[in-house]
Amino acid sequence: MIEKGETGKGKGVIEEATSAVARRLGALKPRVAIVLGSGLGGIADAVRDAVRVPYREIPGFPEPGAPGHKGELVAGTLEGVPLVVQSGRFHLYEGHAAEVAALPTRVFARLGVETQIVTNAAGGIRHTFRPPTLMLIADHINLMFRNPLVGLVVEGDQRFPDMSDPYDAGLRARARAVAQAEGIPLEEGVYAALLGPSFETPAEIRMLERLGADAVGMSTVPEVIAARARGMRCLGFSSVTNIAAGLSAQTLSHAEVLEAGARVAGQLERLIRGVVKGL
Ligand code: HPA
Repeated sequence: MIEKGETGKGKGVIEEATSAVARRLGALKPRVAIVLGSGLGGIADAVRDAVRVPYREIPGFPEPGAPGHKGELVAGTLEGVPLVVQSGRFHLYEGHAAEVAALPTRVFARLGVETQIVTNAAGGIRHTFRPPTLMLIADHINLMFRNPLVGLVVEGDQRFPDMSDPYDAGLRARARAVAQAEGIPLEEGVYAALLGPSFETPAEIRMLERLGADAVGMSTVPEVIAARARGMRCLGFSSVTNIAAGLSAQTLSHAEVLEAGARVAGQLERLIRGVVKGL
């Protein structure tokens, strides 16, 4: 049994969570996982023959607290590909340890998932970005100062995973091809992850710009690090919902993030469907 207060890292937690999910999935063996960001929940409804597993049925999975995030895994098929959608992620700013944020990813790996597609909402730093717009994540900068691999090595993880190809080049080429074929504008750039939950100051945004960031958000990096440590390949999309602090006269709000995210959610769904097809 999982002890109260145990975080998402111990082997027992991962095994128990994996068994609980696997029992519900039966013969379905997901090959792809899609992690949904704020306000990007629509794709979960497109899953065929969906099995919904609420987080309260999964040992070690907390209830998600961020508005715009549900708390369930939705498994089934999309474009004929068996997959699982994570509807509701665990943010570090909610007080979760990095290994809790990464627990679903480790469970996906144990279930046999080979490809993880991550999505998030982000503020746009590159001056030419006109939100709402979609950005393919080319690379990231971890400014959360947390890492889900810290501590004893968990069985199945690498101690020192290579991070020179965090967002798979082949998958990115595929995403660009789908965007072009579908006439969907798709930027590409570097995502900087901060702890949050306060939005950045204008001085912080100027700093991030100098560091080479094109967009900024508060998620995604723990999941991608855990995936790379288990040899899963990743693809990431940011929904750039607003111009980052200080680059326009506007103030920032989570309501605006959700509303702008909803406006590009349809395009993001078409992009993801196009990439998943034939995986
Ligand atoms: N900063 C950080 N995270 C975000 C933003 C932002 O401007 N917009 C959406 N998520």
